[in-house]
Amino acid sequence: MTQTYHSPVLLSECVEALSIRPNGTYVDLTFGGGGHSRAILEKLGASGKLFAFDQDADAQQNALDDTRFTLIASNFKHLKAQLRFFGCTSVNGVLADFGVSSHQFDTAKRGFSTRFDAPLDMRMSAQMKTTAADVVNTYSVDALAQLFRKYADLKNAFSIAKAIEKRRQSGAIVTTFELLEAVESVLYVPKRNQQNAQVFQAIRIEVNQELEAIEQMLVQLIDVVEEGGRVALMSYHSLEDRLVKNFIRASRVDGQIEKDFYGNPKLFFKKVGQPIEASDEELRLNPRSRSAVLRVAERVKNLYKES
Ligand SMILES: C[S@@+](CC[C@H](N)C(=O)[O-])C[C@H]1O[C@@H](n2cnc3c(N)ncnc32)[C@H](O)[C@@H]1O
Repeated sequence: MTQTYHSPVLLSECVEALSIRPNGTYVDLTFGGGGHSRAILEKLGASGKLFAFDQDADAQQNALDDTRFTLIASNFKHLKAQLRFFGCTSVNGVLADFGVSSHQFDTAKRGFSTRFDAPLDMRMSAQMKTTAADVVNTYSVDALAQLFRKYADLKNAFSIAKAIEKRRQSGAIVTTFELLEAVESVLYVPKRNQQNAQVFQAIRIEVNQELEAIEQMLVQLIDVVEEGGRVALMSYHSLEDRLVKNFIRASRVDGQIEKDFYGNPKLFFKKVGQPIEASDEELRLNPRSRSAVLRVAERVKNLYKES
């Protein structure tokens, strides 16, 4: 079941990047089908531990039957508090594989995919209040245009937003196909499929507040990861990657290096190697790996003081 749920991307690269200590404690922030978690457990000894997070109740069906493993049904933005709840204050490594799983995309009724006619939902967790239908039917034209511009870099963002507004005057847009139909006339024909996917991506990011969750989680890594511990963070689009890159370089998601009272920069992570992308072989086997970028860093005491 887990094989069809999701094929893990850059699996051996992620596990290698974590440089796993057999008796260490690790976190998989995005459990999904558990592909990465299983590989981490294989490297851990009897006293090692793995905590995994997933906010989607569907992921619970993949929970691993292993005494070293705990699956936490929560948004990873609560990383520190959740770990503390489970009696853990620091860990030796953290893995993240952002975005949605193949299972979420391929389950028609979740409304993530342009391929199926389904209710406009797109929530990764049923606990989220706002659905895609809420965004599409209640946001102003300007707010919609901003989403399409910011989260999908769509040049015709305003026309798409206007088309949605026009269509909803004759009744709420409640299904994926109704949304596709509403925007059809303003998309560039040769790029229609790509733009449809971009429209859906922008709405999905908004519904799940994906970038806010990543921002909130990243800053907690400073407190949670022990010195010498590793973070392996895999992004699928430039907005996620920018946050990760800024954080690794500056220990802040806005990329602005903070200084202490004496003017010394406060830096807590050291980049390890260059960003890793999928090999030609993996691209051939798993097209989803196409846009993956894995960045790795090591927690240091304070980079400035070490040098
Ligand atoms: C790309 S999939 C991960 C796949 C996994 N690495 C595997 O090998 O099967 C991302 C998963 O993370 C979950 N997820 C995304 N954002 C999350 C968040 N902020 N908090 C908790 N889980 C999240 C999704 O529900 C999804 O199951």
